Amino acid sequence: MKRYHVTTFGCQMNQHDSERMKGMLESLGYAEAGAPAEADLILFNTCSIREKADERFVAHLEQAKGLKRADPQRIIGVGGCWAQSVKEDVFRRFPYVDVAFGPGQVHKLAEFLTSDSLTAQGFFEFGGFTGHLPAKRARDLQGWVQISVGCNMNCSYCIVPSTRGREVSRPLVELVAEVERMAADGVREVTLLGQNVNAYGRDLRPQRTSFAELLGALDGISGLDRVRYTSPHPKDMREDVVLAHVQLPTVCEHVHLPLQAGSSRILKAMRRTYTRERYLDRVALIREHVPDAALTTDVIVGFPGESEEDFVQTLGVCEEVGFDGAFTFIYSPRRGTEAATFTEGLVPHEVAVERMERLVEVVQRRARQRAQRFVGRELEVLVEGPSRTDPARLRGRTRHNKVVNFDGVAAPGDLVGVTIVAATSQTLTGEMSLVAAAAAR
Ligand code: 5AD
Ligand code: SF4
Repeated sequence: MKRYHVTTFGCQMNQHDSERMKGMLESLGYAEAGAPAEADLILFNTCSIREKADERFVAHLEQAKGLKRADPQRIIGVGGCWAQSVKEDVFRRFPYVDVAFGPGQVHKLAEFLTSDSLTAQGFFEFGGFTGHLPAKRARDLQGWVQISVGCNMNCSYCIVPSTRGREVSRPLVELVAEVERMAADGVREVTLLGQNVNAYGRDLRPQRTSFAELLGALDGISGLDRVRYTSPHPKDMREDVVLAHVQLPTVCEHVHLPLQAGSSRILKAMRRTYTRERYLDRVALIREHVPDAALTTDVIVGFPGESEEDFVQTLGVCEEVGFDGAFTFIYSPRRGTEAATFTEGLVPHEVAVERMERLVEVVQRRARQRAQRFVGRELEVLVEGPSRTDPARLRGRTRHNKVVNFDGVAAPGDLVGVTIVAATSQTLTGEMSLVAAAAAR
């Protein structure tokens, strides 16, 4: 039997796509290998969001080159956003690569493997949904659902519109059927994935659908406890989506709302289509209807033209909102993007690093403060397995997407009550309630 190994870089959409690659390969009769050295087919699902992502991948590819030299029968495949961004160039730069494909052409990998082709081939059209392929899920209880591919926004720093193409939504009935199958299979929590999830459905014909309608349609599915989604765009965070968090029991009390910058001037240069005030209005709308919701965000520091005053505005928004968590990034110019052509006001790396440190201080301090609201409360926790730091304890996740390490006896997939006794910026600590423990058993 032939064996494959997939190394995944990048975002949750890439993790989803890798599960579909694995599902497709297993339907072709391949089995998963524990390490690249044991595999006949070595695959990389790549990311290109920042320069670091590129560099990490290239180091892995060098190792695969050594393995191929030892056994020239081995096939090396490169999929994902980096492959899409360099296209045929991949074969010139890395002549030992046999097959390369973009995120919209994962299905072509099967075609390549079942053909007798001995020459390297690349597949870079946009169009296919990986969501149509069979999945091999990494976790039994949690599943990804690809609701749309591509992005119609034009953020000046972002490579994604060029690697994943224009936005295309999958029909609502198809998604409902997919989640029904997953729930019947034991999945209790789904995460809806898209580059801009809350723009979902506007392109569907004959009938346009909205993201809030999709949430409503998924809510009644039997066996499904939790629905999450990532990432929404602040401009499309309308009242109907916010109200879904209040009205639909499955929709979790967590919104990841990428800020990127807190200065309206920089937001404009980023082409984010909202101002600082509009962003804060959206936060106020969420807090008005779902006061307890966890809010997380993405922030970029050191964007071209970002002055000390602009950066202080970003710090101000983070201070004012008090996010429950944030992913913070130093701006990295990406080939083909508008911002990569900017030449004025470039921020020296040391300045960006220093700003990043100040930002992280604010983000962590506010997250720690915010997390204290959970201390003393009993929260619903979906058990994932043993704690990573202490195998004698359990680990799970709250509806707010906080990781909880706790004492108790329960099986993965159980929903239990945990009383929180301590909170840091990242994780909660607690004890399982006895009543819940009895119910779980
Ligand atoms: N440089 C730095 N960070 C970036 N992101 C996207 N493009 C870039 C870039 N060129 C960040 C954004 C986005 C997250 C997934 O990655 O914050 O929300
Ligand atoms: Fe995901 Fe963006 Fe990286 Fe592509 S470039 S894998 S969409 S983070």
